[in-house]
Amino acid sequence: MPEPLSVELDPPVEVPGGYPMKLAAQVGGSHVQASWTYMDGLPGLNTHLDSWLLGLLDAAAPAGSRYRPAMALNNVPAVSPDMTVSAVPVQASGTIIVVREKVTRAGTNGMGSVTSGTVYVDTVSGAVHGGAELLRPEAMPTIQSRILGVPAEIAAPSPQGPPLTDLVLDPSGQLTVTAELPGAPGRRVSMRMNASDTGTALSDYGRQVLGQLNAAPAPRPATAPALRHVNCDLVPCAALTYDDGPDARTTPQLLAILAEKNARATFFMTGSNAAANPSIAKQVADAGHAIGNHTFSHANLTKLPPPAVKKEIERADAAILAATGSAPTMMRPPYGAADAPVQAAVGKPLMLWAVDSLDWQSKNPAVFVPKVLKEITPGATVLMHDVQASTIAGQLELITALQGQGYQLVSVPQLFEGVPLVPGHVYRSRPARQ
Ligand code: NI
Repeated sequence: MPEPLSVELDPPVEVPGGYPMKLAAQVGGSHVQASWTYMDGLPGLNTHLDSWLLGLLDAAAPAGSRYRPAMALNNVPAVSPDMTVSAVPVQASGTIIVVREKVTRAGTNGMGSVTSGTVYVDTVSGAVHGGAELLRPEAMPTIQSRILGVPAEIAAPSPQGPPLTDLVLDPSGQLTVTAELPGAPGRRVSMRMNASDTGTALSDYGRQVLGQLNAAPAPRPATAPALRHVNCDLVPCAALTYDDGPDARTTPQLLAILAEKNARATFFMTGSNAAANPSIAKQVADAGHAIGNHTFSHANLTKLPPPAVKKEIERADAAILAATGSAPTMMRPPYGAADAPVQAAVGKPLMLWAVDSLDWQSKNPAVFVPKVLKEITPGATVLMHDVQASTIAGQLELITALQGQGYQLVSVPQLFEGVPLVPGHVYRSRPARQ
């Protein structure tokens, strides 16, 4: 007999290269809490999770509007949210990771509802398979009728049976099937099939998965932290940027604060300072931050002829490459000074800023920290200078406040993930999702 079940089937498992994400948002009249796990090197899974989450959030938004990351700012997690969304890895063996997705909606009169699904991720091909692919199509009606607790002979044919989307196969070969009862949305039953019954129901793909669930986890390459996937259409992101360094005294202090707060940032270095402090430049790169080109000598490029502009960029690239092992793919013109000839000559996307802290002008955290907090919006880049001791003095307060509001602090490449960056074009903030 199927057993009624509303408990967690499996505890989450640790997955190498997995990193947890959280969101608390006020979407329309609903307080939504979401938690999920992205995985390095599995863009198919990460994209699948993003589409799933954005679909749920868009559906919760008022008619005619869509979810915006700003809806996830300044939300104190509710004791009992209206909707709880989770996607957690429950198995990770061989080349297979199993992710279980669940949506719990608080109903009126305590009549909540739960929907769930399972996806199987192939860590070699990156493909994402739905749970139903584990089964031979011919085996489905029998399982659907068992779920309903009625004999197979009088079961509704497959199209009317409960859709089978939540199937957790364990290494011993048992299959736990959870399904919604037809005509009773959100009311679920769950049953566990023994290894023998499961064996006859598995498709070729299901048998491959079972083999992998009994193998040692396959190693996967790590992703550089500055390039790790974060969807800034989903979570409110901000990119803190620091210009004019690296500086032997102040930059390491900033690195320590960023490490303490687990924040990613971007450093627009001059080639002359990278050449003078190559070990500091390397520390910045090794700490997982992005590095951009800020010319060699901090020149006002609009006052130089194109060949001299090119030379400023190339010399800075060479110095940063020598120090860190990689050349920047983006640049920021000193003083934000760029005109059409400069844009044509630099050969990289020009990353300006949306929020100017004017930290160099006030030299006072009590002035620039509130200014940034007042002007910042999701998707913004923020201009600061890591060569100023007063700037460093305000960073712990600024970062703590931004994270407290719900901002994810990301590198510029993370902020613009999915946005094609064109050499010569100017960028200030991530464009809103269309
Ligand atoms: Ni500068």
